[in-house]
Amino acid sequence: MTIATHTTMNDLKDRFARRTGVFGDSIWTGIFEHLRKHHDPVYFGDGAPAQEVIPVDRLRQASRRAWDDAPDCLKYGDQQGYLPLRELVVERIAKRGIDASVNNVLITGGSTQAIDLACRVFLEPGDAVIVERPTFLGAIEILQMFEVEIVDVEIDDEGMRMDALEAALDSHPNTKIIYTIPTFQNPSGTTLPLERRHRMIDLAREHNVAIFEDDPYGELHYGGEVLPPLGALDDRVIHFGTFSKTIAPGIRTGFAIAPGEVLEKMLAIREVSDISNDRIMMRTVYHTAVDFLDEHVEQACGLYRSRRDVMLQALEEHMPEGVTWSKPDGGFFVWITLPDAISSNTLFDAAAENGVIVFPGEWFYPNREAHYNVRLSFSTVPEDRIRIGIERLANTVRQQLG
Ligand SMILES: Cc1ncc(COP(=O)(O)O)c(C=O)c1O
Repeated sequence: MTIATHTTMNDLKDRFARRTGVFGDSIWTGIFEHLRKHHDPVYFGDGAPAQEVIPVDRLRQASRRAWDDAPDCLKYGDQQGYLPLRELVVERIAKRGIDASVNNVLITGGSTQAIDLACRVFLEPGDAVIVERPTFLGAIEILQMFEVEIVDVEIDDEGMRMDALEAALDSHPNTKIIYTIPTFQNPSGTTLPLERRHRMIDLAREHNVAIFEDDPYGELHYGGEVLPPLGALDDRVIHFGTFSKTIAPGIRTGFAIAPGEVLEKMLAIREVSDISNDRIMMRTVYHTAVDFLDEHVEQACGLYRSRRDVMLQALEEHMPEGVTWSKPDGGFFVWITLPDAISSNTLFDAAAENGVIVFPGEWFYPNREAHYNVRLSFSTVPEDRIRIGIERLANTVRQQLG
């Protein structure tokens, strides 16, 4: 057999599907390059749990217990998810008001896979999907793969604006889905108030569209009113959850809660993709979470609340006039709005030189056309480092303002 030459590869590139064009340059390349620019950078880019909060010992013990089911659990099986884990999910979401049975739960490879599977059930090229403006980069990429029209709707301090949603639905009768992160949104940190939640559901009913509720941060609550997820208010909502933020992202365990007919299609599609989640890992997650996760999340929230407070206070102390930021009640992110004179890309480069890495905001817009925001994640950065990082960032903004 001959090894493919460069020329052969170029020929094959001509045969790639159009949808692969979505994957051009990656923000992570820029971030990793920037991390090398300073001997001691403060990194605000990571939307992940703090390393020190990841329950490694418990996971290790749980993994040993998971192997007790071998060799039986090493066959094919558990396509919809390990039953005790689905029961645990049902119990946890019931506390938040979502009434579902184990038949409505599909365990997935993170919420990323759940979103992808649900999109496969609903979307064809040319359909429209409404999203918040800005929204989660991963969701934008998934949607672009389906060659749909992404209609981004303005947000304000309280999440998606309902007048703008109504106008978007009226002007896009091809809409099939509203994709929303109503609680502690990524990247803006905003939370949709109760009246807007009800209004969104009414509008979705009027226009017969599905609501995809992406809820990775809903349990990471540090203050303010606790609101019911959209999934607790209406059964046309397909709700996505994950253990990535409450346990660890590397365990790749999330879930979808969906009405029976939707779930059956998702399950069928998943069976021709990866068949099931890793059966040992599902048991590991179950033995880790049972009789532990509530207390664990409460402790983690204490740490994240302090880090958020330190970040907000440091911004208050150091940022020059003209810079504003969100004040999230939960989740991992603070969303900074810059004065017109500074573009987020310029700030991204200059801040890295000064030893602080931020996430440039345009990656959260489908056309990447907006250049006046950066996202800061406080979850992984210790308090003293947050203070240093914000001071460096504020100095960079000042330099840029001249
Ligand atoms: C809004 C949102 N949805 C989904 C995900 C993906 O999470 P998972 O690790 O469960 O695939 C993330 C992770 O950053 C996220 O912020």
